[in-house]
Amino acid sequence: MKFLYLMLLVFLTSCQNQGPTQIISTILPQPNLQKINNDHFVLTSSSQIVYDERLKESALFLIEFLEQGANFRFSENYKTADIEFIFDASISETSGYHLTISSEKISVKASSEMGAFYAVQSLRQLLPEALENQTFTENKILIQAQHIEDVPQFAYRGMHLDVGRHFFPVAFIKKYIDMLALLKMNTFHWHLTEDQGWRIEIKKYPKLQEVAAWRDETLIGHYNDMPHQFDGKRYGGYYTQEEVKEIVAYASARHITVIPEIEMPGHSQAAIAAYPHLGCTGENPGVAKLWGVFEDIYCPKEETFAFLEDILDEVLELFPSEYIHIGGDEAPKTRWKNCESCQALIKKEGLKDEHELQSYFITRMEGYLNSKGRQIIGWDEILEGGLAPNATVMSWRGVEGAVAAAKQGHKVIMTPTSHCYFDYYQSENDTEPLAIGGFLPLEKVYHFNLIPEGLTAEESQFVLGAQGNLWTEYMKDEKQVEYMAFPRAIALSEVLWTSEELRNYGDFVKRLEHFQERMDALDINYANHLYEIKGEIQSNENGIFFQLKSESNSNPIFYATDGSEPNLLSYKYENAISVAEDLNIKAAVFDENEKQLSSIFEETIKMHKAVGKKIELSVEPSKVYSGSGAVGLINGIQGSDKRYGDKEWLGFWGDDLEILIDLGAETEINKISTRFYDAIGQWIYAPSIIEVAVLDSERNNLTKHNATLVDGRKNVKNLEVRVENLDARYIHINIKNYGTIPDGSQGAGHKAWLFIDEVFVE
Ligand code: ACM
Ligand code: ZN
Repeated sequence: MKFLYLMLLVFLTSCQNQGPTQIISTILPQPNLQKINNDHFVLTSSSQIVYDERLKESALFLIEFLEQGANFRFSENYKTADIEFIFDASISETSGYHLTISSEKISVKASSEMGAFYAVQSLRQLLPEALENQTFTENKILIQAQHIEDVPQFAYRGMHLDVGRHFFPVAFIKKYIDMLALLKMNTFHWHLTEDQGWRIEIKKYPKLQEVAAWRDETLIGHYNDMPHQFDGKRYGGYYTQEEVKEIVAYASARHITVIPEIEMPGHSQAAIAAYPHLGCTGENPGVAKLWGVFEDIYCPKEETFAFLEDILDEVLELFPSEYIHIGGDEAPKTRWKNCESCQALIKKEGLKDEHELQSYFITRMEGYLNSKGRQIIGWDEILEGGLAPNATVMSWRGVEGAVAAAKQGHKVIMTPTSHCYFDYYQSENDTEPLAIGGFLPLEKVYHFNLIPEGLTAEESQFVLGAQGNLWTEYMKDEKQVEYMAFPRAIALSEVLWTSEELRNYGDFVKRLEHFQERMDALDINYANHLYEIKGEIQSNENGIFFQLKSESNSNPIFYATDGSEPNLLSYKYENAISVAEDLNIKAAVFDENEKQLSSIFEETIKMHKAVGKKIELSVEPSKVYSGSGAVGLINGIQGSDKRYGDKEWLGFWGDDLEILIDLGAETEINKISTRFYDAIGQWIYAPSIIEVAVLDSERNNLTKHNATLVDGRKNVKNLEVRVENLDARYIHINIKNYGTIPDGSQGAGHKAWLFIDEVFVE
């Protein structure tokens, strides 16, 4: 077997070596119409570029790319064109373009600089990667002949970056913008103010630079690690107005709008530390050094509004964007409840409560910005207490905010945690760098369906697009930002650009494998989990099987079941592995040179008495944390200790849960056990009331226990119920959700999440 496999590889490799160099035609995001022809254009240093004046900037971008990358030189005013930029008014979308490559010439057609720029980004991806880092030394380039007609699906294609939690230099912001431009993204949401640091120079308020831009120290490790430890190092920085202008201009030249976010009324502790009279208590809370949500928020009084209007005056000078993001998320109302001035304002304005006071706050700031010709975007909390009249909503706590806003005729931008929070883990590997939590693998981003259920076709017109968010609590440096952003932002770019019928994950992965070489040339520290193995339990009439899969199908998987590390002498994976008893599987992907490509995948399947049997749940798990569905609770596989978002955990938002397991026939059992996740920083609470009943085939109760949980591994609580040799047919577990998150905790006032893992029946 092994011998044959190697022989085949030798054959394939030698074919590759002898054949003509294959030009791979890959573009990300996938163009909406691409016809590849069996021919090529030869670009040389004597090729001539002719452009319409109206597309000059884009032509110059290409010329500069070629001159720097390939050392080709182009002079002005050629008569005959090898590459032509033609202004074509019949291309009605400003972001649309046609790109035709034949053996004679390359033709770019667009009706705007933006469209031509996108054509150049596509063409760029058809050129050798070596041009990206100026290592190309040949004197000609073969470009695959093809015809592309392209236009994006969504108007808002964004990426966000939080520079409050960690601060990143101007050079990096430009590098980030470059990547967004390459992916035809058009919006950079710059999250500039936070509890832990204020990052934009405001000339009228120097203490924002002197005080609010600096924190005394930073949390070490994860927020959930107790006790909290700090590094003792002063940390901070801010962008000068000159730097901001430079970045806005840099982005604009790449057809990217920079939307600044100035947070209010919450996430404003750094500003209050600089100007304590802006808070309700007048006390100085200090610039925050922990992550999370803080109670010191702006007090809605005249001095505060004057301060914020002054700040916005300076911000508007720097940012030409129509939209200004005013935050609005995570503003605890504790201070307002206990503040005389706030309560007097509630009375004076005839408001119902503090939520309506927040609405008053946002509406007033919206009025100010509207009067300057701008529009606001706010996080979905701005729906609470009534939406400001013209606001656009960024839906992050799920898609409910988007549905509610669109139904009220407001524009929405989709950034749900489930598909757009790139601060979540992207792999279940234990070696992943520390992240905030959750689990958002590449494939899940790729399968993001932007239009939420429950919207009519007309209402769905209000969905402008989507945005990937990078909150940087756990991204200390640029490398880590790149690792979390890419390749997930690439998947999102395709979701936003390419029509659904043309999207195919397998094809995307192939293009991404190739695109990685471009990112290598660009020195992007992308994450690579393409070869990682995934396993899945399947049961049918023939028994229970375990299936292995790698995203990259072209390389074989080898596996061992005796505890040893897999190598080419192990079993080659061909068909799903039959599971008759407890089984440990270790597997890895290898290439033709016997090099291990993937990390080692390991799974232990415990064949307890409920595996492959029937299970019913009283409520469906939340769509975004549905794991492998109810059967995942009895598939013999335990979830990760660290990642409640993996496919073994099921999440329920605010719901009580009843589980009924049917063993099919009376079966002797002695123990029932399961686990609950407990991470209050992520709004996840283990339940306190759980009832476990064991029934016979007539559904008579054999025994019933009020179970108590005991601490398990970090963030996990264990449940174990012992029953003596009972002949059981059914097991019924009744779980009461924790309920509402108490004041003073992350997510106070929201429903708690309940997460449950495998139910072992032994
Ligand atoms: C958010 O993640 N607080 C918008
Ligand atoms: Zn107040």
